Amino acid sequence: MKVFLTGATGFLGSHLVDLLLQEGHEVTCLVRSSSNLRWLKGKPVKLVQGDLLPDNAGLREGLKNADWCFHAAGVISTADPKDYYRINAGGTRHCLDLCLKTAPNLKRFVLVSSIAAGGPSRNGVSIDETMETKPLTLYGHSKLEAERIALGFKTRLPVTVIRPPAIYGPRDTMILPVFKMAKQRLYFKPFGKPRYISMAYVEDVAGACLWAAKSGRAAGEIFYVADGDSYPWEDIADTLAQIFHHKVYKIAAPKSILWPLALISETVSRVKKQIPPITRVHIKQFYAKGWAINIDKIKNAGFHPRFNLQEGMKASVAGYRQLGWL
Ligand SMILES: NC(=O)c1ccc[n+]([C@@H]2O[C@H](COP(=O)([O-])OP(=O)(O)OC[C@H]3O[C@@H](n4cnc5c(N)ncnc54)[C@H](OP(=O)(O)O)[C@@H]3O)[C@@H](O)[C@H]2O)c1
Repeated sequence: MKVFLTGATGFLGSHLVDLLLQEGHEVTCLVRSSSNLRWLKGKPVKLVQGDLLPDNAGLREGLKNADWCFHAAGVISTADPKDYYRINAGGTRHCLDLCLKTAPNLKRFVLVSSIAAGGPSRNGVSIDETMETKPLTLYGHSKLEAERIALGFKTRLPVTVIRPPAIYGPRDTMILPVFKMAKQRLYFKPFGKPRYISMAYVEDVAGACLWAAKSGRAAGEIFYVADGDSYPWEDIADTLAQIFHHKVYKIAAPKSILWPLALISETVSRVKKQIPPITRVHIKQFYAKGWAINIDKIKNAGFHPRFNLQEGMKASVAGYRQLGWL
């Protein structure tokens, strides 16, 4: 297939590129002049330079006669909150507009959305695709808007939306600090009663995107994808303890301490014009009732994740070690 990807220089996108190349597809990636190309170096992919702007020349060239488009580009954290809507929602619209103009035979447009679009689980119940969406953050609202835009095209284009929870695996820098701390025997969890979360190993999310492109049952649909279980935060520490063969101390971090720390981090970062390492939004997410997902819909449609938490964490540690990051 002739495949076009946005976000190919990022964590998930680069793993999706690897999967597509393994299957022998012809891959074109959108990159920016500022993109770090480390994960694409030496791989048989075509690069087109551009952005997610209206009628962008690079986007137009990359999409020309594509069979599949995977839209994985997105902003998860930014110093300028306006970026969320501008890039996550606006970028999705611009990409779809150009699909209509330049990819008349497009067989699937896969939008990588997020659990953040649906919002946290309510009263301990895992969320599924039938539940009302309740995003907690601006990022979540912008991903939900991207979904609405994408599904608004579904009578003209075969669109599928994939909603992963926290994705982990080699090349990721967001969850890497959790691995590093666990290596140092430390782990932070929310204070109080157990909160359940779902996780997805990166190769499974890439696999779900590829499945969505191929499956006749995926057009016009939204699917949550994760490993199929939900865990109290403590289980992540216990799993890492087993992998590192040492005790990991679980520290319950009270909101009353984290909140002022987040305020300080936001203030310092605003002055330095940097992305804050901890924000009040992170604390809100950390203390949400849970982020547990029910994946029955995607399983019943034919996609089955391959990695449980133990296997995914083991593969992540091995991958990070290979990169020299752990
Ligand atoms: N990581 C997670 O836990 C997680 C969970 C759920 C959903 N998701 C979603 O999965 C997708 C990929 O996330 P990720 O973790 O792989 O993120 P990432 O590593 O930060 O990669 C983001 C990608 O988006 C590209 N991008 C950002 N702004 C762009 C713009 N204006 N024009 C063109 N490209 C742009 C980046 O290009 P540059 O290299 O040029 O910056 C990069 O390739 C996102 O849509 C995210 O919302 C992620």
